[in-house]
Amino acid sequence: MRLRYIEGQYEYLQDNEKAITEPEKRDYKLNKLFNNPNPIHVELGCGKGKFIRETALQNPDINYFGFEKSVKVAYRCAKSTIENDPNNYFIVYSNGDILQDVFEPNSIERIYLNFSDPWPKPSHYKRRMTHKNFLDVYRKVFTENGEIHMKTDNNDLFEYSVEQLKEDNWDLILVTRDLHNSPYLQNNVMTEYEEKFVSEGKKINKLIAKLKHNCLGII
Ligand SMILES: C[S@@+](CC[C@H](N)C(=O)[O-])C[C@H]1O[C@@H](n2cnc3c(N)ncnc32)[C@H](O)[C@@H]1O
Repeated sequence: MRLRYIEGQYEYLQDNEKAITEPEKRDYKLNKLFNNPNPIHVELGCGKGKFIRETALQNPDINYFGFEKSVKVAYRCAKSTIENDPNNYFIVYSNGDILQDVFEPNSIERIYLNFSDPWPKPSHYKRRMTHKNFLDVYRKVFTENGEIHMKTDNNDLFEYSVEQLKEDNWDLILVTRDLHNSPYLQNNVMTEYEEKFVSEGKKINKLIAKLKHNCLGII
């Protein structure tokens, strides 16, 4: 369904206590926003926020940020906040490619890429969230144990991502091409797109990639 732009959506986000706009203009980094040392997990392209909200509810000892670059979608996400919303997440109206400008190095433990836009044309591959340029950004903000958790119905994007990650020297610690018929489904939180695709009988791909550490001392 195409979302309509309604006047005042940006102003609504500016006034909403769950939403952050123009994070690059703040005089502090986003990882300082929570007054606790809990790990930080980020979803890039959080859509209407079902995943980030449910995941935050289930994990009160983790701090979450959901980035969404479309004002219409970020507005819908902020609008659907509920009264007893967990206080361990924020919605960030921003493109995810600025992570290194708005977080300190060594501050993010996990990045979720859930049903990212597939950008099928080779001339658009640079926009894919597992393109080398994005992987370089993730490296800059990841803690030592940084992990990418990716789910997609799009086989082409998935195989491309597996190859990019291997070429860029990441460890693939989980790869399944049929998550919902695999042993890895336990604790899976469905996103909005995932619910739709699963109801249409589509297979869901999932991978987890971890930063590989160069082992000093081995020649
Ligand atoms: C296909 S939707 C998936 C939404 C949600 N993750 C889900 O699984 O239901 C992809 C979303 O990512 C957002 N998006 C795409 N590229 C982005 C980027 N570079 N930074 C932030 N959001 C992005 C789009 O606006 C869109 O809302």
